[in-house]
Amino acid sequence: MLVETGATGARLDPTPATSNGTPTRRLYTGSKLERARTIADLRAMAHCRLPAFAAEYLEGGAEDEATLARNFAALASYRLLPRALVDVSHRDQSVSLFGRSAPLPFAIAPTGLNALFWRKADVLLARAAAQARIPFVQSTMSNDPMEEVAAIPGLRHWWQLYVFGERAIREALIRRADEAGCEALVVTIDAQFYGDREWEQRRFTHPGKLTIGSILESALHLHWIATTLTGGMPSFANAVDYVPKERRGFYESAFWIRANMDQSLDWEEMARLRRLWPRKFLIKGLLNINDVERAARIEADGVILSNHGGRQLDWTLSGLDTLPEARRRFGGLTLIVDGGVRRGTDVLKALALGADAVLVGRATLYGLSAAGEKGVERAIDILREEIDRDLGLLGAQSIKELGPDFLAR
Ligand SMILES: Cc1cc2nc3c(=O)[nH]c(=O)nc-3n(C[C@H](O)[C@H](O)[C@H](O)COP(=O)(O)O)c2cc1C
Repeated sequence: MLVETGATGARLDPTPATSNGTPTRRLYTGSKLERARTIADLRAMAHCRLPAFAAEYLEGGAEDEATLARNFAALASYRLLPRALVDVSHRDQSVSLFGRSAPLPFAIAPTGLNALFWRKADVLLARAAAQARIPFVQSTMSNDPMEEVAAIPGLRHWWQLYVFGERAIREALIRRADEAGCEALVVTIDAQFYGDREWEQRRFTHPGKLTIGSILESALHLHWIATTLTGGMPSFANAVDYVPKERRGFYESAFWIRANMDQSLDWEEMARLRRLWPRKFLIKGLLNINDVERAARIEADGVILSNHGGRQLDWTLSGLDTLPEARRRFGGLTLIVDGGVRRGTDVLKALALGADAVLVGRATLYGLSAAGEKGVERAIDILREEIDRDLGLLGAQSIKELGPDFLAR
């Protein structure tokens, strides 16, 4: 939170609940997971456990981080307008996603390089998702094989495709996802160029080579070393086979893929991918309403309105900004939104604006980075409890009742 400095130089309190910094408030950073009350606590715990270079990778946005900031500002620009004296003794936060009921209105977003946070991280995230019966979107840049994740009982497994290299590669990945039984294909289109997360880059002297300072600082994070680095160097288990043999080192393979993203990717190719995939097809990374229209025209089943967590083009809008018009105009499309979701109220705002569900990226990664699988479960529980309480406070019995009437700007 920003601490402003007044004309006198005195520190102004960041919240009206404190005066001159008292009572002192601190986020929880101990090791008792049940004492993490909020996603912000899990974030603080994650920052204690992770070396700085990994925390930068987790947190960083591109360039001036204006897009990253926009995600929070867009959510903050809406206020909730509760309905009084409604019987909310029973509350239901389930939603229907692609014809199936999901008990919670959010899913876990695709994130690459999760093995930097915890050993077998994709499996841990997916197991926690399966337990909560929410979808897990596995990234092309994940570190555990998609077939291993697909074998987790009860998982709603969605595969996120990055389009790189020659056509045969994307076709092979689509075939594998089909054979693994993935429910949906999510094609991410906002990362054909890699956004410049400058603060993360400052931790490296050359691509893949940490500064001496970062190496020394990492060596102090013994718990991270014990739970992340033991068991050997991870790999991009699902993408590495398509990388030339001499470039298959951990960072090297990532850089090769980054350098070989298909920058000619267009709507024609997207329509072709749509035809190749037999089940639900979503496009992730749209912000422009005309593109939502094109997605509907090529018969995508849904879109994910997203700016990639502020990590790609700087100074964009947030997915939330596009959501109301997308909802008005494209009733038949499944609309999912992400960016900046850290609270139950954030989820409720997005749903009231017409989202069918939201994705959470960093929120569950904070849980993962704080305490592995149990931490992911805690993050999901925190959001579930907040959504439940906030629904009651809002005067709504279920998600289905939510709409713009519950919001003011
Ligand atoms: C560490 C990290 C890695 C990410 N990797 C991917 C990825 O591999 N594929 C993808 O489509 N999006 C990726 N994203 C973007 C997320 O899917 C999602 O859009 C974003 O995290 C949502 O914002 P939030 O973190 O504020 O919830 C990544 C985000 C983060 C924080």
